[in-house]
Amino acid sequence: RFESRDGSVVIDVAESAGYCWGVERAIDLAVESAGDTSRPTVTHGELIHNSYTVDKLRQEYDITHVSNHSEAPDGSALVIRAHGVPPAVKREAAAQGLTVIDGTCPLVDIIHRKAVQLVKEGYEVFVIGQASHPEIIGILASVEEAGGKGTVLETDEDVANVPPLKKAGIVIQSTLIAEKAGKIAAQLVPKSREVKVVNTICHVTTERQEEADHLAATADVILVVGSQHSSNSRKLKEVCGKDGAPTYQIEGLADLDMGWFVGKRHVGIHAGASTPREIIEQIVAHLQEHLVQGAA
Ligand code: F3S
Repeated sequence: RFESRDGSVVIDVAESAGYCWGVERAIDLAVESAGDTSRPTVTHGELIHNSYTVDKLRQEYDITHVSNHSEAPDGSALVIRAHGVPPAVKREAAAQGLTVIDGTCPLVDIIHRKAVQLVKEGYEVFVIGQASHPEIIGILASVEEAGGKGTVLETDEDVANVPPLKKAGIVIQSTLIAEKAGKIAAQLVPKSREVKVVNTICHVTTERQEEADHLAATADVILVVGSQHSSNSRKLKEVCGKDGAPTYQIEGLADLDMGWFVGKRHVGIHAGASTPREIIEQIVAHLQEHLVQGAA
């Protein structure tokens, strides 16, 4: 908790704001790999949804990205992002002679394993989450490789389209809002004779959402720092704004509009898993300096 310089405005920063350990681990692995200058280090897609960090990795460590492993330069090290990839990507990259540095978050790996386990137990697998998200694409690929059938449930309509079945096994995207996942899962229950739900929402996400609930209930204006491409930042914005406090999603200091704070006494700040701490600190320092009597 911070205060503006004149003490008139409280600035509450969620403790869980910023990089989660899974993202930090992937960045550390990439930086460590770049220490070996005998070969280039490239990432499979942008390592995180944050242009500040992506630029910094390029400028300071010469780490660039490729959109597909087949585009990686010969002999390079290929870093897999925290979201994970279909297992075939790692195999193909290794067969291509690349050194695969697996930055898949261990908690995402667990979701792959749980989903495969459901297949082995004879369940048809349902993954609750955002169909286009790389994490979901990777999990579905693992299910299919294990010989199972996998379906993504993103909307009520997706559940409505599921025909009656015998055994439904459910896993959930690591960064999903529990309430949303629960609603979708509940709609699937009457369709299947047997349902097994494995709650794979990550603990960082749970903590982040609890803090978002708290800010929603207490702050009178809220900033969510994170890229528009980051699905967990967009979800956070939704939760932070649910009690009516004006909530703005910004990438950094440059997007800040001091007009948002006129007459406000309690500013809440939260951030997605791909937002570096430095950016949050810059924003807090700016607000501390410039918010006076709650006016810009
Ligand atoms: Fe891993 Fe959870 Fe972060 S699944 S990448 S620690 S949000």
